[in-house]
Amino acid sequence: MSEALNGFEPYQKEILKGLEGKILNHPDFVAPETYGQIFDAADLKAGDTVLDLGAGYIHVLEDHSYTHQLEDRGLILIPIDDTVERLESWMLHPYHQRRENETVVRPVTADVTDTPFKNESVAFALSINLINAPIEKSAEQILAEAHRVLKPTGQFLISSFGYDKMQKPDGTVVYNNGFTEDQFVTAEYVKRMAIEVGFAEVEELPLDQARIDAEFAAVQEIIERNGDHLLEIVHPFAVLLKK
Ligand SMILES: C[S@@+](CC[C@H](N)C(=O)[O-])C[C@H]1O[C@@H](n2cnc3c(N)ncnc32)[C@H](O)[C@@H]1O
Repeated sequence: MSEALNGFEPYQKEILKGLEGKILNHPDFVAPETYGQIFDAADLKAGDTVLDLGAGYIHVLEDHSYTHQLEDRGLILIPIDDTVERLESWMLHPYHQRRENETVVRPVTADVTDTPFKNESVAFALSINLINAPIEKSAEQILAEAHRVLKPTGQFLISSFGYDKMQKPDGTVVYNNGFTEDQFVTAEYVKRMAIEVGFAEVEELPLDQARIDAEFAAVQEIIERNGDHLLEIVHPFAVLLKK
């Protein structure tokens, strides 16, 4: 196995070099063990399809909290992003199974609100930290598409974190995604909208306070160099939706 992994190393180094200074890794506020419990309870079977809507590249490179929990279940993990260069990093993961029960990764370039998957064909979907990114699509469109592709027993884990409320040296208050307070999608809004698009059950998941504290300290340290001050990490949440 290590021989095969070594084959990816030069590529990985190149990608990490290209990303230097461009991205700040936000730790996932859902603890790895919470992901494990959720994937166990979802009763995922070998060969099942799992979608990661708005996959980006950060988790693959730096925070493996959910990919580690998926990797030995023999699944087909499909990271979806509309920006192809972000998906390059997912190619570090195996396209073909190299050991028993290894999850394989098949990135797809697509709009998360118009994916090339059949109705009721997907066992589980995740959308980590997409919903409050400054994107052109609405929360309702993302929820409706996830609902369409999920099997009748399917589940959708949707989360938001890494959005900060900061005070500038002149006293003005700004958000790092350029939103105003009333533009944020909250857990309450997701739960309400999920029921409207047809999900039967909604459940808010516990967040890991130690990870939130670590994020707060890391962001504070960085932005204080410019004289800014971190006031709050805004509306972090993770919600599990069941069809
Ligand atoms: C804030 S990043 C989150 C990335 C990753 N899930 C994480 O937690 O680090 C949002 C990602 O969604 C992608 N994205 C935005 N709008 C999209 C759309 N309509 N369809 C597909 N991907 C989209 C962006 O290119 C970006 O990689």
